[in-house]
Amino acid sequence: MQLDIHSHRILILDFGSQYTQLIARRVRELGVFCELRAYDTTEEEIRKFNPKGIILSGGPESVTEAGSPRAPEVVFKLGLPVLGICYGMQTMAEQLGGKVGTSDLREFGYAEVKVEREDAFFANIHDRAGYLDVWMSHGDKVVTLPEGFSITASTPSCPIAAMSCDAQRFYGIQFHPEVTHTLQGEALLRRFVRDICACEDLWTPARIIEDSIQRVRDQVGDDQVLLGLSGGVDSSVVAALLHRAIGDKLTCVFVDNGLLRKNEGDMVMDMFAKNMGVKVIRADAVDQFLGQLAGVSDPEAKRKIIGRVFIDVFAEEARKLNDVKWLAQGTIYPDVIESAGSKTGKAHNIKSHHNVGGLPEDIKFQLVEPLRELFKDEVRKIGLELGLPYDMVYRHPFPGPGLGVRILGEVKKEYADVLREADAIFLEELHKAGWYHRTSQSFAVFLPVKSVGVVGDGRRYAWVIALRAVETIDFMTARWAHLPYELIEKVSNRIINEIADVSRVVYDVSSKPPATIEWE
Ligand code: XMP
Repeated sequence: MQLDIHSHRILILDFGSQYTQLIARRVRELGVFCELRAYDTTEEEIRKFNPKGIILSGGPESVTEAGSPRAPEVVFKLGLPVLGICYGMQTMAEQLGGKVGTSDLREFGYAEVKVEREDAFFANIHDRAGYLDVWMSHGDKVVTLPEGFSITASTPSCPIAAMSCDAQRFYGIQFHPEVTHTLQGEALLRRFVRDICACEDLWTPARIIEDSIQRVRDQVGDDQVLLGLSGGVDSSVVAALLHRAIGDKLTCVFVDNGLLRKNEGDMVMDMFAKNMGVKVIRADAVDQFLGQLAGVSDPEAKRKIIGRVFIDVFAEEARKLNDVKWLAQGTIYPDVIESAGSKTGKAHNIKSHHNVGGLPEDIKFQLVEPLRELFKDEVRKIGLELGLPYDMVYRHPFPGPGLGVRILGEVKKEYADVLREADAIFLEELHKAGWYHRTSQSFAVFLPVKSVGVVGDGRRYAWVIALRAVETIDFMTARWAHLPYELIEKVSNRIINEIADVSRVVYDVSSKPPATIEWE
């Protein structure tokens, strides 16, 4: 009988804080499965989820305002431990008979809190005797405790910075344990999840793999499964996982669209087909893509064409295979949360063209999505555990339309060839200098303008390459990476010396916003 790694689980009710997903990731890092649900989840769903403890997240609203979100009453009636963070603490106080006041003095950032009483939550956890360094973010604060609660921590401007009722195992903290600025954050979450809720650390990469393999086998039985392999982290991990689960009942299709990085196609074939023995069909569709893109310079039109041709090529390969019933996809947990969370029911379509949901009517598949429960960092960990190389698992994201959005305006093979060489030099030097993993995304861009240069005794009239390197956590905002001048110089020299068709290299110093990370 296999151990159910989901059996010890925490429910996180989301009140809309930007940190809610981070809470979930931290709980998972402690080896405990958890899920995020909207704050207004029904009583029935909560009972069905059957958690060992509940965390109420922070949120942007004020509990003092009419109609602001509340936790379902059942949360406080199940006899389970509850941890309220920030807004979660405030709504807990309000719902249990305490009072929350709006304060003029808003507190954001670092604060030193004094532990007033070492309850089951705070016992033996501190940075200095009796004190914790934490990350606060609040306008409102609890001003009157609910009955049965006492103050456990305070700051000068927030006398009730934490409260608890040990008898009921209800805990409220006004600061954020999920962010690394709260030095004892992990210890505090561990205390709640592992000690107070008594969850065991069942959620580990090796066991996640075992569990996923079993579930995939149960789901697809002896059927054949098809996977669109892009060479990106998610589809690569799905390929490795499914190969382990169902062996040669998995067929991967790798579409070469002519807009890949240097050697990418060969690398994917070597890694999966040659080394791992995965069945991979390489669909050479370079002419089809470049043919359809000829004469098109509008970025969105280019994206649409690349997406459409991808579906055409993929569908054509799928039709050639008999007996395939299942389509595997690298959907991950944040995709699931985003589609569930949005009121319109629309998922963000940033990955739209890899999401082969738009297949024609005559091809009908059922979906198998073995990464649906996992955060990106968990996908990476299981990728390593499955034996994928570190550099593949931790590589920068690469957009679906590939070099198609890094060649400004019309895409031509000649431009793609130049760009591939320049990009490869840039990435190679970043790796050598130890800078690759210090940036979040780095690449070269092809500018279809000619510029004059001098080479030896002659003049060169050739293309311009831009280098882009950014640092970002979420790719929504980004700062241009402050690469050492010597490194930029080396890259620039190599590109101009080694690629005859380039006469000039520039470095992009635009932040996002307003500039996007990609140039198109
Ligand atoms: P931007 O350029 O919008 O990019 O700042 C943010 C992140 O999204 C990636 N990106 C895409 N990924 N299809 C994709 O799969 C696309 O059309 C696309 N456009 C941008 C970009 O590489 C960056 O990581």
